[in-house]
Amino acid sequence: MCLGSWGRCSTINIREPVMRDIVTPDSERVSDLIADLTRDEKLALVSGGVDPDEIATGYLPGIERVGVPPLRFVDGPLGIRVPDEQATTFPASTGLAATFDPELARRQGRALAREALAREIGVVLGPALNLIRVPHCGRNFEYYAEDPILTGAFAAAAVEGIQDAGAIATPKHFVANNQETNRVGVTAQVSERALRECYLPGFHDAVDAGAGAVMTAYNRVNGSYMSEQAHLLGDVLKGEWGFDGFVLSDWYGTESTVGAATAGLDLEMPGVPFWELSGVDMDSLTEFGGDLEAFQGGLPDPSQYDYFGDGLTEALDDRDVPPATLDEMVTRILGQMDRFGMLSDGFDEGALDTEAHRSLASEIAARGTVLLENDGVLPLADDADVALLGPNVHEATLGGGGSSETEPFVETTTVEGISNRADGNVTVCQGVPRIPNLSLFGVPTPDDEQDQDDSAVDLESAVATAADADVAVVVLRDRATEGADREDLSLPGDQDQLVEAVADAAANTVVVLQTSGPVEMPWREEIEALVETWYPGQADGSALAAVLYGDSDPSGRLPVTFAPESEYLTADESAFPGDTEVHYEEGVFVGYRYFDSEGLDPTYPFGHGHSYADFAYRDIELDEGAVRVTIENTASRQGREVVQAYVCPPDCTVPRPERELAGFAAVELEAGESRTVSLDLDRRAFAYYDEGWTVEPGEYGIEVGRSARDIRFAESTKR
Ligand code: BGC
Repeated sequence: MCLGSWGRCSTINIREPVMRDIVTPDSERVSDLIADLTRDEKLALVSGGVDPDEIATGYLPGIERVGVPPLRFVDGPLGIRVPDEQATTFPASTGLAATFDPELARRQGRALAREALAREIGVVLGPALNLIRVPHCGRNFEYYAEDPILTGAFAAAAVEGIQDAGAIATPKHFVANNQETNRVGVTAQVSERALRECYLPGFHDAVDAGAGAVMTAYNRVNGSYMSEQAHLLGDVLKGEWGFDGFVLSDWYGTESTVGAATAGLDLEMPGVPFWELSGVDMDSLTEFGGDLEAFQGGLPDPSQYDYFGDGLTEALDDRDVPPATLDEMVTRILGQMDRFGMLSDGFDEGALDTEAHRSLASEIAARGTVLLENDGVLPLADDADVALLGPNVHEATLGGGGSSETEPFVETTTVEGISNRADGNVTVCQGVPRIPNLSLFGVPTPDDEQDQDDSAVDLESAVATAADADVAVVVLRDRATEGADREDLSLPGDQDQLVEAVADAAANTVVVLQTSGPVEMPWREEIEALVETWYPGQADGSALAAVLYGDSDPSGRLPVTFAPESEYLTADESAFPGDTEVHYEEGVFVGYRYFDSEGLDPTYPFGHGHSYADFAYRDIELDEGAVRVTIENTASRQGREVVQAYVCPPDCTVPRPERELAGFAAVELEAGESRTVSLDLDRRAFAYYDEGWTVEPGEYGIEVGRSARDIRFAESTKR
């Protein structure tokens, strides 16, 4: 085996299975505690409790007698969700990934941790990083991308950011929680190869980045619930990857006592009945279900708990679970608390809603905005007369529904953002009825209590307003939530009719999508520009104005492929949503790998996005582990380019994708400026998994370009 020398080996194994070592205390403090704690005290540390302060999503009571403080856990990926409290509300994680700049994930991670620590909460339940397998998945907005290397880069940076600031990160949901339909019962039938090449790498990168905790998914994988999946928890996560943090279940996602404890689950969450959960009373059960009709069996059964309370006591008495297993579970939890100073020094300092957090939320929203199409109408002239239309323009599109819902301290509605920036007239008209949020936790929006202004909710007025303006900006949205998948990819309500009518009347029509991912766009050929802002969070209007008026170059690139609904693998019901089983028949051909293998031309490929500047690519140079290319901004304004490198494997023993992302870099360039960027080629892109990682000898293509379908340079290298 030769690990380092990629160019000269024939077939090599990159990682070999490692047997799992029992984690033992590596500090005196933890080993003293393990020796001192009674069995009941240890049991209290592996099953969640009720937060007396009613702020945390999850709570471990601590053991006062020996000075172990309580440990609080909080959602989540887009902002700290504390009932009835506010927090900085960041854009959808897909929008974050669209920046192709993991440094922003690191900075956001730090901000999330500081907001949690400000409330004396030590564990952040994020990042969420399941691979985007199908565009329908209701939680895609919480996830990063359809590509494992992009996902892994963001997951690792988020973990580092959260943990640098002093909180424990919890990458979730391990693994194959790629749909919400029947998420609690479904088994993902997926090959070991697809797991290794697609679904696991993001988690592996998060673990390599030092994650202190990992949350299991609700679903089963190949028949076994993830909270008791011995192969993935024991052999892979804790064995091969050497993860020495703790594994907790998703809420009410523990399904057994002995099976879970012996497979590698360390902490049952929440371990208390639903009606005892902090900040939740039985009346809010309906609120938890929100718009119940929209749910498709995607919520856990809140009557299932206590597997690690009385259940584990009994199992220990009956010797079905050895005492050493309980010791290891407790060692892992206390070990992480010790690592983060929580057993001795208390918590690092936190801060809520700082100026820096506000501007970061805004920076991410603007940078992640993708310019999908532009006939030249954008950027808008400062003095353009704008008709601002759309069902939800009087609010900020904060996010989707579910445990990631956050209520911001401040927000800029679309109308406020555009009106503040414009020098010309801005005439606002909803045109069609408001699209209500799908909320599991009832986060209010400014519009909730307001009566709709009937005259504004009128298609004809919208058309008349558009006809009078220089440009019509039509802002549209979908509805997505945890607990349910999007039924189809069409825009809800009368939004398609609005665009069609406006595009007929207006001199120029710019459509802004505030969606969790691709939508059907029957009017696409009739408009002049198309922008995707994802769910932009609290900075909605100001970030949009910055991009539309050209203050910020629209430098987002698609982390997912956009295509008509009929072209996704979801056309086959057994592949999605399945019934009790969902078959990942596409294997490793996920996302753009699928479109390439099927010979399909997507509407907008993975990695796509225009800029207001123009870039020339030249002087590609390849060496063992990197590719260098010089990028010149040939425009007369500043711009930001995202350079992507793909590996194209030769014919191998197993079928392989046509191309796989291997590296990327974002570069900011003034007008006329050139810079050489170096992209590290992730060695996994050369390898496939077959009982071990294998690189077959041959000629590998290296493509450098602006998207998976806009390749500017192709070279090759021998492996
Ligand atoms: C979600 C998790 C979340 C947990 C606690 C679950 O329903 O799947 O992502 O962290 O609830 O709110």
